[in-house]
Amino acid sequence: MKNFVFNTPTKVVFGRGVEEETGRLVRECGGHRVLLHYGGCSAERSGLLSRVRDSLHREGVDFVELGGVVPNPRLSKIHEGIELGRKEGVDFILAVGGGSVIDSAKAIGYGLASEGEVWDFFEKKRKASACVPVGVVLTIAAAGSEMSSSCVITREEGWIKRGYSNELSRPKFAVMNPELTLTLPAWQTASGCVDILMHTMERYFYHEGGMELTDGIAEALLKTVMKNALVLRDDPSCYEARAEVMWAAALSHNGLTGCGTDGGDWASHKIEHELSGLFDVSHGAGLAAVWGSWARYVYKADAARFARFAHKVMGVSGAGTHEEMAEKGIEAMENFFRAIHMPTSLSELGVAPTEEQIREMAEKCWRGIGGPVGVVRPLGVEDIVNIYHLAR
Ligand code: NZQ
Ligand code: ZN
Repeated sequence: MKNFVFNTPTKVVFGRGVEEETGRLVRECGGHRVLLHYGGCSAERSGLLSRVRDSLHREGVDFVELGGVVPNPRLSKIHEGIELGRKEGVDFILAVGGGSVIDSAKAIGYGLASEGEVWDFFEKKRKASACVPVGVVLTIAAAGSEMSSSCVITREEGWIKRGYSNELSRPKFAVMNPELTLTLPAWQTASGCVDILMHTMERYFYHEGGMELTDGIAEALLKTVMKNALVLRDDPSCYEARAEVMWAAALSHNGLTGCGTDGGDWASHKIEHELSGLFDVSHGAGLAAVWGSWARYVYKADAARFARFAHKVMGVSGAGTHEEMAEKGIEAMENFFRAIHMPTSLSELGVAPTEEQIREMAEKCWRGIGGPVGVVRPLGVEDIVNIYHLAR
């Protein structure tokens, strides 16, 4: 077991109607001049934004607005937010939306709290020393950014998608009303469920350390999400299932399922981020399209772990070698992805990268880490090229 730090400063306010408390929560955090940040039109259309505005007005909280964040959020919008925030003297950022809006808010927070180009943090040229506080009203269970320390941004120049992690950016509060996810298209619900599973699976497939309790929590979380993803496929209006999935999203990426390990593999995420950077696909769907190819490429490096996954998570029973069990477990997870109408290949994802693009993505992926990618079987550029080929 490895030593660990578990830091979850985010106050979670969960359940029906809790968005009414947003104004009070902002005041509690000392926000006086707020940047209300949101995405396309879903939050306006559902009436959520007007309820949030009312809640801010009721508490006498002053705010300016910046909408228009797109999925795979762009650096140009962040620059716009930093400029607006400086001009308006913003001291708190309220993100109303999903991972893209929250990540855009975190990046604006870094930019407002420091001089110079914010992209430098994502290129690891320097480390942030401050971040304007961020609060969240969550509208989709997926990325887990509502409790995570990371944020992922796409720079349009060169279509480079990069993450930056720093404890400073963990949201001060997260308002989570599962009802707010009822308006999600089925594709986004399913894509979100894959991302939640993957945040736990990336941590589950580690190289060093480990704890019985962490494994048990991870396995329960994975089974709960799979069960409720199927419920939502058949009955998108089920509040209980929405709630299970929303809570799982937060716990999947707040560090809980990584306690006592080396932090996990994360190669599937890195491989996917290149895809959504270049082809602008939904992150969760991109993960479903590459995971099986990654797993088949690496499982022999730790067949016992994959066999445990097959048995404990996917319910694969019967005798067999670790490798046989592992293969059945991988196939079972791909069958689950298919059951919720997620792609299990790049062609099903609707992406057909050329050889040149595959090499470009593999090289960018390797450079982004500055060395081998993943820990189960550390991957070089040629390995990543092979995985993209397998995923075609
Ligand atoms: O822009 P609007 O109109 O709101 O539409 C959004 C968007 O098109 C829509 N949507 C969100 N809530 C809705 C809704 N539509 C109807 N009803 C609602 N209640 O859903 C679409 C996707 O939204 P987005 O915020 O992009 O989804 P998600 O939460 O999956 O975030 C994805 C982004 O997060 C990053 C991903 O790479 C991607 O850029 N990630 C962030 C992480 C983090 N910060 O810790 C970790 C993850 O691994 C991930 O990389
Ligand atoms: Zn993810």
